[in-house]
This record gives sequence, C-alpha cells and structure tokens, in this order.
Amino acid sequence: MCGIMGYAGERDAAPILLEGLQRLEYRGYDSAGIAVIDDDGVIHIAKGAGKLGALRSGLEGVYPAGRTGIGHTRWATHGKPTENNAHPHTDCTGDIVVIHNGIVENYLELRAELRDRGHKLRSETDTEVVPHLVESYVGGGDDLLTAFRRTIARLEGAHALVVFSAKEPGRILAARVGNAGGVVVGYGVGEMFVSSDLSAVLPETQRVTFLADGEIASITAGGAEYVDFGGAPLTKTPQHVPFDPVSAAKGAYKHFMLKEIMEQPQCIVDTFRGRASFDPPGVELEDLHIADDVLASVTRVVLVGMGTSMHAALVGRTYFEQIARLPAEVDNSSEFRYRDSLIGPETLVISVAQSGETVDTLEAMADAKRHGAPQITICNTPGAQTTRVADGAVLTRCGPEVAVASTKTLTASITALYLLACHVGRIRGVVDDARLAELLGELVHVPALMGSVLKTEPEIAAIAHALSSRPNFLFLARGTQYPMAMEGALKLKEVSYIHAEGYPAGEMKHGPIALIDKMMPVVALALDDGTREKMLSNIEQVRARDGIVVGIVTEGDAEIAAKCDYALSLPRTTPLLYPLLSAIPMQLLSYHIALLRGCDVDQPRNLAKTVTVE
Ligand code: F6R
Repeated sequence: MCGIMGYAGERDAAPILLEGLQRLEYRGYDSAGIAVIDDDGVIHIAKGAGKLGALRSGLEGVYPAGRTGIGHTRWATHGKPTENNAHPHTDCTGDIVVIHNGIVENYLELRAELRDRGHKLRSETDTEVVPHLVESYVGGGDDLLTAFRRTIARLEGAHALVVFSAKEPGRILAARVGNAGGVVVGYGVGEMFVSSDLSAVLPETQRVTFLADGEIASITAGGAEYVDFGGAPLTKTPQHVPFDPVSAAKGAYKHFMLKEIMEQPQCIVDTFRGRASFDPPGVELEDLHIADDVLASVTRVVLVGMGTSMHAALVGRTYFEQIARLPAEVDNSSEFRYRDSLIGPETLVISVAQSGETVDTLEAMADAKRHGAPQITICNTPGAQTTRVADGAVLTRCGPEVAVASTKTLTASITALYLLACHVGRIRGVVDDARLAELLGELVHVPALMGSVLKTEPEIAAIAHALSSRPNFLFLARGTQYPMAMEGALKLKEVSYIHAEGYPAGEMKHGPIALIDKMMPVVALALDDGTREKMLSNIEQVRARDGIVVGIVTEGDAEIAAKCDYALSLPRTTPLLYPLLSAIPMQLLSYHIALLRGCDVDQPRNLAKTVTVE
C-alpha cells in the first residue's frame, strides 16, 4: 500500500527520492514525506498532506541537501491523512527516522509502554512506535542494526520497514517482515537504492535483490550487506531484471488508464508469443517448474485472487473445466483461509496477482503451501513474492501497470490462464492436436479483434455522455461473461464512484429487478455464446420496467441491438474468448464516465494499487 524509496550515494538524495515517489504514488497518495541527512549529520524532513504535488509545492523548488535519504507515500491505516501523520517518523531526539508499510498490530500496547518510559509520541500512527523503540535500544548501547533487530522482534504484524540514523550517517537499514509488501534493493555504480517497488528503482538500475521474509539489508553507497533477524549474515546475489522503464511513461495519452486499455492487443500477443506454437500445435510455458507427472495427477484446481485478478480467475475456472476437464473452484484469496479447504498434493492452486504482493493472496498461498499443494502464479511482476512462493509462474507480459484500476493485466491474465489450461489439458491427454490447433488458432485472432473493439471508443464516449449522471448501474451476464459483468461494475465503481453491481443475469428477478426504473442503466452482455436467448429475456424484462439497456452484442445481431437503448457490438469469436473482447467496452465506458465526472482516473480516491494490508 504505502510506497517506500531510499537512496545512498554521491548525488543529492531529495530529487531522486521525489522521482521514485512519483512512480510509487499509485500505491498510496494520502500524504508524502522525505528525510535526508546532510554532510554535517543534520537530518532534514519535509512532509505534505495529500498527493506528492503538495509536498513538491511546499518545497518550492528548494530541496534539502544530503546524499542519503528516505521517502514515503502513505495510504492511511492508523490516523488521518494529515501532515502530522505523514512519514517519515522520528524518535524523541529526531536522530532516528523511519518509514513503514504494514500495520503494527500491537501498537497500542507499545505506545502505552513507551509513554510510561517518558517517550513523547506526536502522531496517531502505529508506525511512530518504531523509531522510539529503536531509540530505546540505541540508548541502551546497541548499534543501529542490533537496535533495529530487537525492535522488529517487538512488533506484531507484517511490515516493510526502513530506518536511518544521524548516529550512523550514510547507512540505511531495510527489513521485510511477513507479507506486507516487497523490499527491493537496487545496485547502481557508487550508489544504492531501496524501494517497495521494482518499478521505482528500474529507471536507475536493473540490478536488484529482493528481501524475503526475515531478511534485513544494510545499505550504504558502496553496496549492501544482508543479515537475518537473528543477525546471521546472508549471501544475496543481485539479479538482472529485464523490464522496460520507458513503457511506464504515459506517452501521448492523457491518462495511464487509457494508455493501458489501448495496449491490450500488444499485451495479449506478448503473453502468448514464444509460448504458443501452431505447426505442430504446442504450448510451452518456460517458468512452470512443475513436472508433467505432477500436473497429470492433480484432480482439482483451486484459483485465488482479489478484485480484478479474482475476476480473471473466474474466467480461468471455465478454462480448466472446459479445456483441461478438471473440476475447478475460485475463491477470494481473503476468504480462502476461512474455509479450511480440503486441499493437498492432488489440488493445483493457481494464484492470480498483477503485483504479486497482495497480502491476502500471499496468505492464501502460504496456506496452500502448508497443505502441500503444487502452486502456479499468474503474475505481471517478475521477481514478485508470489513468483517466489509458487512452484512455478506464468508471467503476463504487460510491462508496468500504473493506473490503479487494472485493465491490461486482466486480459493478459485471462490469456495466461487459457494457455495454462491448454497445457494442463494436453498433459492430461484431453486436448489432442486438433483441439489444441483449434484453441490456439482462435486465440491468435484475438489481438486484431481487440483492435477493432478499441476503435469503437467514440461510440462508447457518446454513451458515457448520455449516462454519466446516473447514480447507479447494473451489469448483467451469464456463463463466461458473468465475471466480466462483475469486472464492469468494479471498474465503474473504482474510477467514477458510481454505485454499480455485477450480477449473474438469472439472479435479476430474485431481487435486483426491484431497483429497475427509468433512471437505471443496465449493461447487458448478450453475445452468441450460448447465453444469448436467456439474455434477451433479461433485456425484455428490463425494458418492461423502463430501465435503460446498454447491450454488448455480437456484430450483426440486429434483433438484440434493436431492443437496446444503446448497443455496442463485438466481432465474433468463440464463447471462451469473448471475455477478452467484452472487457474493453466496459473499461472504456468507465474511463469516459469518470472523465466526465471530473474524477481522478489514474488515482481514484481511497484506493491503492497494491494492497499489502489485511
Ligand atoms: C481493480 C484492481 C484491484 C486489484 C486487486 C488485486 O482495478 O486493480 O481490484 O485487482 O487489488 O491486486 P493484484 O492483482 O496485484 O493481486
């Protein structure tokens, strides 16, 4: 959730920290702050409530001097998003500075203890106990690293923590405790970086290490040393991460969300390129690391994910059932743990996670691991935690997704699940050459079809114009399209703040129909995928109650189009692949409605790109 950035080197730290925070702002944008230490050992702190822009304007172009520093963007959990609660936080002396991502679950107890011992805590945050605990151990004679380790031992919960001290200028300590988000250490030449996100360090360096749970990095301009929480030295070798930072730029687009919607055909091609072959037909997934006999022996698939990734998982469920012929279930990662689900080595667990750092998904994976289930993650972030926990991965190849609302990683994850289902079906002997050729042959046309759907943007913008002031929307669909109805509703809620519900269309008459009147737009996915006739009845039922029908229909289906107030047509594909097309008009509708309502499209209120708190 919160974004973390640190620098130690020869250059002025502040501009580098602010640049890094800019790239991290999608994680949280309630407040921001930096702390740098100058050559005389004096720490300078600047903070601002609200977005990073507020901090920048407060500085008025005059950056505090210093070649070591840390910075933070906050997504508030404990305490309002005020300047006083903004990180970095310090101890009583102001010599120890801390930034934090995660929740100190026992902070009330620790605050009380520290207050009793005379510490003056000034904020409402859980984080502030950390510098005071470090201070108390340093005061007792510990060096910074020992004090940090002893502090960590006192904290309950999961965290990424970064600290530096005026007593040891030039050194930054960073730790990963549990699954509250990643810590990446970047190796430059004569300079080092640390961040919560790979994307923040990539423009500076592509040589990185990732901290695992229980590891601390001690970083100076000359390099990094690693220890575990017991203080034992660890050897970690930097790896080269092939990621193109240029693709993170907004380019000609007004918003990242629009750019990322438009990139989808390319992301789909990139995700199947080199993995699907056509003559003879084959699927090769390079990072699976699960032996064919293990995959052949599984009797069930359980897919987990959150938000948009969970919607991709729901489409994946159909793929595993219809292509690989395996019983498949989907759960919100956050619910999975409450099920005491009966899984073991015979269940293939597949997590879907754009960031690979969502704490709920990591916890579900940890649970699956305890049960000995083989695991694969569908992930867009090379090196992310899900890729390290799972036995294998199918990486989507979208490049960084910067807009907080996911778009391109939805369709790329669905594509990866399609390939994986083909692969598993092949190993299980239920997908022969002819069937595989058919499945892949259909997939290969999808990027071009997506391109033609993207060209309908002006029509979609016109519908957005007509409907942007409606306070509620319903999204209805059946079968493979049902997850897309949920996704359509989620996108609209996220970026336009309009209340929207996605329902299986059959449920409509069991309650939601009571909401329908002439004010209620109903987006109905009525495609020729085996659900058309039943969706037509739903549309009639909405019309009979004066609802406004926005139909997403198959090209040439004049009968359904005539029944809709607004009809958007999609080119024909197979029922299994329609979700890759139907996602697009709903993404564009949400985008344009949000624009018309003056919403912050790329950084909607209250959201964070990567959710690392439970
Ligand atoms: C929706 C959205 C979120 C994420 C969810 C999971 O637009 O972005 O719902 O899909 O937070 O994130 P990952 O995929 O990173 O686990």
